[in-house]
Amino acid sequence: MEISAQLSRTSSFRVLESGKVEKLIDIAWSIGNASSSQCDENLHLHAWDGNSAIAEKSDNKFQVDQIWALYNDRDRMPKRQIAADTKVHGIIGKPIGHSKSPHLYISAFRAPGFNGIYLPLLVDSVADFINTYSSPDFVGYSYTIPHKEDGLRCCDEIDPIAKEIGAISCMIRRPTDGKLMGYNVDCLGAIAAIEEALRASNGAPASGSPLAGKLFVVMGAGGAGKALAYGGYEKGARVVVANRTYAKAKELAGKVGGQSITLDELKDFHPEEGMILANTTSVGMKPRIEDSPLPKEALKHYSLVFDAIYTPKWTRLLQEAKECGAIVVFGTEMFINQAFVQVERFTGLPAPKQLMRDVLARNMDKSEFFW
Ligand SMILES: NC(=O)c1ccc[n+]([C@@H]2O[C@H](COP(=O)([O-])OP(=O)(O)OC[C@H]3O[C@@H](n4cnc5c(N)ncnc54)[C@H](OP(=O)(O)O)[C@@H]3O)[C@@H](O)[C@H]2O)c1
Repeated sequence: MEISAQLSRTSSFRVLESGKVEKLIDIAWSIGNASSSQCDENLHLHAWDGNSAIAEKSDNKFQVDQIWALYNDRDRMPKRQIAADTKVHGIIGKPIGHSKSPHLYISAFRAPGFNGIYLPLLVDSVADFINTYSSPDFVGYSYTIPHKEDGLRCCDEIDPIAKEIGAISCMIRRPTDGKLMGYNVDCLGAIAAIEEALRASNGAPASGSPLAGKLFVVMGAGGAGKALAYGGYEKGARVVVANRTYAKAKELAGKVGGQSITLDELKDFHPEEGMILANTTSVGMKPRIEDSPLPKEALKHYSLVFDAIYTPKWTRLLQEAKECGAIVVFGTEMFINQAFVQVERFTGLPAPKQLMRDVLARNMDKSEFFW
């Protein structure tokens, strides 16, 4: 019982004897399965049962030894230890087993010798998680489906873009007073990727945003949809929001002075040629890679198609857009751009951009990679 009580705070995990590194990871990892009332029981269970308990209780394909291998170069001796001053970060979502983030962030932290770990966190309730893991060494989180809106509600302070969007993608515990700060960096990542592709295609003006004045169709009105719609609006694009649930499209379009339609209506929507299309629905994401949110026939009206999905990199939508002659922009570009920003905010150091691109490229090719 004594141990169980101690384990409810990370700083306490660390006073345990040597060999408890794995337990720190087990516990940090398994907390998402626990509501706060069940937490001690689950932590106790995980503390004593180790990996087998994780495997039963989480969707993660990660195992502790894989995290450990990422945290250390495979051949490095002596091994880096997770110590009392190691900062704990992670990605909060459900499911989380598909996420590329731990591999990327742990590698990015390791390169400059930053003393931090980054875990996949399968979380049911963001509020329970935040209340339970309130110690100062839990310093930063990325947020993914379905917790971006709940994450925002748990912040002490929210930056204006995240407030407008109504969702966060990054949360940082301010070292000076422990307050939780919420940000949305999806918007920066996606819009920068689209602008870069437009500029590279020579169809862009020398100054100002190449999105200005373009008809910018955003499929989806969830967290990523909001980020794209606000990003496009900020750049002077004429925004159209198309969503399965029309009420959400209407609400979002209203906020960005745009037009709203259903996803079904989008099939026959082509007021002009050369439009820009951004998919932010999850249609086409692994494992349902044969799906696409828009028939190929409709894609010929677009000059550029972006897909926020990055598993797989080549979604059916992007393959068909390419066949129709459109420029394609991968979800990996949005992912890597926003990861640069988050790494810089977590570490206070410049992001090792080439290394991060290499890590991502290397692992995107492995269809059965363990994350
Ligand atoms: N590349 C990156 O860095 C990055 C960053 C963030 C997100 N993403 C990706 O973007 C996608 C959406 O993420 P999110 O956070 O915005 O999720 P979300 O808030 O849950 O929104 C999901 C959106 O997808 C729509 N949708 C879901 N299933 C659908 C279906 N069967 N048919 C039509 N529409 C459907 C929903 O429509 P309803 O409103 O009708 O339910 C909603 O608009 C995910 O694939 C995620 O991996 C990528």
